[in-house]
Amino acid sequence: MKTIAVLSRKGGSGKTTLAVNLALMAFLADRQVMLADIDPQRSASDALRARTAPGPSIFDGGAGKLFHVQSNAMRGGYDYLIIDTPSACEGDVAQAVNLTDLCLVVGRPSFLDLAPIVRTAEAVRRLGKGGFLVLNQIHTSKPDASPAASPDILEVLRLCGLPLAPHGLRSHDAFQKAMALGRCVAEWEKAGSAGRDLEQLWAFVEANLDGQRPAPRQQAPMPAALAG
Ligand SMILES: Nc1ncnc2c1ncn2[C@@H]1O[C@H](COP(=O)(O)OP(=O)(O)OP(=O)(O)O)[C@@H](O)[C@H]1O
Ligand SMILES: [Mg+2]
Repeated sequence: MKTIAVLSRKGGSGKTTLAVNLALMAFLADRQVMLADIDPQRSASDALRARTAPGPSIFDGGAGKLFHVQSNAMRGGYDYLIIDTPSACEGDVAQAVNLTDLCLVVGRPSFLDLAPIVRTAEAVRRLGKGGFLVLNQIHTSKPDASPAASPDILEVLRLCGLPLAPHGLRSHDAFQKAMALGRCVAEWEKAGSAGRDLEQLWAFVEANLDGQRPAPRQQAPMPAALAG
């Protein structure tokens, strides 16, 4: 079994959206999936409980129970445990990270998200874990092309020591509509661009489940806006 944690110190960056969509992608590919929601807001578990079709198993509770949940899921033959984390409660998030095979640090490609992304990636590295940055809510007017962040944003992200996943998620109202029914965007819009982004991202994640060990951080100076 592989354990994936989705995290970011920035509220509203897309942790729940990513965790639920990835859990559903895995489930729809016939994997046995448990989603652990350790955020007291319980958004991920609420979304999955709105689902009328079969879906991933749900745990909602405190981070202190995660070890037990993980052990039980392993014994139960699960393929994936996907953990949705809160933006605050560093201790809880650290407990989740300690159990993971792969951390996904999610953020929007905007100036105000950069510092939280970098700090979250640093926390992952400090705990000796590997993973990827995943960009979410990328604004693009090109429905047929993969969404991409601007070169200056990419330059900052290159310095933070976790590699950027080659596929991100565009900003698309399908994510909000599908979530309200506990569905992933690939179910919502079979041939849509949002679903295609998700399929490409999940294929990448599944092919890179051992993560990448923390790389020595590049010595280039951090832009002033991110220092401290
Ligand atoms: N790619 C996207 N396109 C459009 N809307 C999105 C996308 N990703 C997330 N959203 C919307 O942005 C809002 C915040 O997303 P989400 O709840 O997943 O973030 P979060 O990081 O889990 O927030 P919190 O820190 O409160 O747990 C939600 O309304 C969600 O539907
Ligand atoms: Mg959330």
